[in-house]
Amino acid sequence: MADRLPRYRPPARWFHWTVAVVVLLMIPAGLIMTREGLARPVQDALYLFHKNMGVLLVPVILARIAYRLTHKPPPLPASIPGWQRGAARLSHALLYILLVVMPISGFIRVRAGGFPIELLDRLGVGPWLAKSERVADIAQGIHAVGAVTLIAVLAIHVAAAAQHALIRRDGVWGRMWPVRGG
Ligand code: HEM
Ligand code: HEM
Repeated sequence: MADRLPRYRPPARWFHWTVAVVVLLMIPAGLIMTREGLARPVQDALYLFHKNMGVLLVPVILARIAYRLTHKPPPLPASIPGWQRGAARLSHALLYILLVVMPISGFIRVRAGGFPIELLDRLGVGPWLAKSERVADIAQGIHAVGAVTLIAVLAIHVAAAAQHALIRRDGVWGRMWPVRGG
């Protein structure tokens, strides 16, 4: 019964897991690279990864949002109570908002701080923003609050997914899992 539920279409699943894998690598990279006492080469490598992967993810995120706006997700099974539908809608909306806020605030923090984004610099893209301590500080604050919010929402998101997959086994997990029978 559960495996006959309508599933997300392949592009939606592809977008979800590509973005999820990259974001789940970028979060620990961001948390570790800002720690005091880290060996310089490790810190540099993590910054290089975090900034450039974040920028590379932007077109994927924009394409994902454009796809989502033009393709409704499949209906949830009737067994899901109203409050859980509301919670899912709210948390998914928050995740999409954070997927926009995080790269923009990160970009502004770096550029207004006068730092490089190696990939864009190689491509000859200008800094786009004038140097400004004040703007860099504000963007840094937004990035930090966004990071905490993202981690909190993701903890709930992953716990809910695990609960559907392991306890309720109601087919919700299989809607997003890339292969059949998940
Ligand atoms: C291990 C990590 C993750 C698991 C197990 C997971 C699992 C799932 C599942 C099962 C769904 C489908 C929910 C439904 O049928 O209504 C879903 C949807 C979604 N996930 Fe994840 N997810 C993970 C990580 C992430 C990450 C890192 C992000 C973004 C930063 C994310 C963003 C979303 C969004 C926005 C949706 C809603 C899709 C839509 O309806 O447009 N997920 N996730
Ligand atoms: C989905 C995209 C992104 C996620 C999930 C993310 C996540 C994080 C996290 C968790 C931290 C550690 C918490 C903090 O210190 O604020 C962090 C820090 C940082 N991120 Fe990002 N980030 C993203 C995109 C970017 C981009 C595109 C850039 C720059 C081009 C960037 C630049 C930075 C910098 C410079 C820091 C250190 C902040 C500081 O100076 O304290 N991030 N990020």
